Amino acid sequence: MKIIKCTDYEDVSQKASELVIQQIKINPKSVLGLATGSTPIKLYDNLVKAYQRKEISFKNVLSYNLDEYIGINREHSQSYYQYMYKHLFSLVDMNKKNIHIPNNDEKQIDKITQLYNEDLNKHQIDLQILGIGSNGHIGFNEPGTPFENETFIVELDEQTRKDNKRFFKSLDEVPKYAITMGIKNIMRSKKIILMASGIEKANAIHKMINGTVTEDLPASILQRHPDVTIIIDQLAGSKL
Ligand code: GLP
Repeated sequence: MKIIKCTDYEDVSQKASELVIQQIKINPKSVLGLATGSTPIKLYDNLVKAYQRKEISFKNVLSYNLDEYIGINREHSQSYYQYMYKHLFSLVDMNKKNIHIPNNDEKQIDKITQLYNEDLNKHQIDLQILGIGSNGHIGFNEPGTPFENETFIVELDEQTRKDNKRFFKSLDEVPKYAITMGIKNIMRSKKIILMASGIEKANAIHKMINGTVTEDLPASILQRHPDVTIIIDQLAGSKL
């Protein structure tokens, strides 16, 4: 694991965006694995600025998102579909047919994981962006998820629902289920960047880097990936 220690959130976002920009410059047809949550917002903002400066184009980039809530539809303001269009896709020249976000249509619930997984397995992700939950989840792979899982439907951890309550009016409104890439899908990526900022991530970051590899702390599996860069600010790295 390569660890880049930054001063603050701005710095984390700057370092991460430099790596993504470099990836797209080296291979304009890159396959990117994309994350949501509050952490990558400034990274996406920096990518949009690089696009506006004509430094990079997303015309031939392929994207696969990690996860999506189940129980709210794509039109809901907190769906990851809306998030991605708001922060990136509607602001750059992404080709709509190259965008992949897990389908969360409950009417197709028995098919959506298989379809997304098949789609995902047609390519290898060149660069996967990750955040981390305070309980060590990546994507929505909650503690206890088998490392062998491919795309699946997960019942969200109480801690994750509480952490994400800030985006909804009440805890009751936070979805209970989600569709997520599995650990196995994430581990197939050629390169991984994990970003973390803030004191609430410090425990998870410490266990991910220094703890044993265990399904109880899903992000710990990254110790076994050959090309992972962890980009953290002072607070997230304060227990290292
Ligand atoms: C969310 C997402 C993850 C994200 C994590 C941390 O629930 N499913 O992909 O990395 O939790 O979110 P945040 O960056 O808002 O702290």
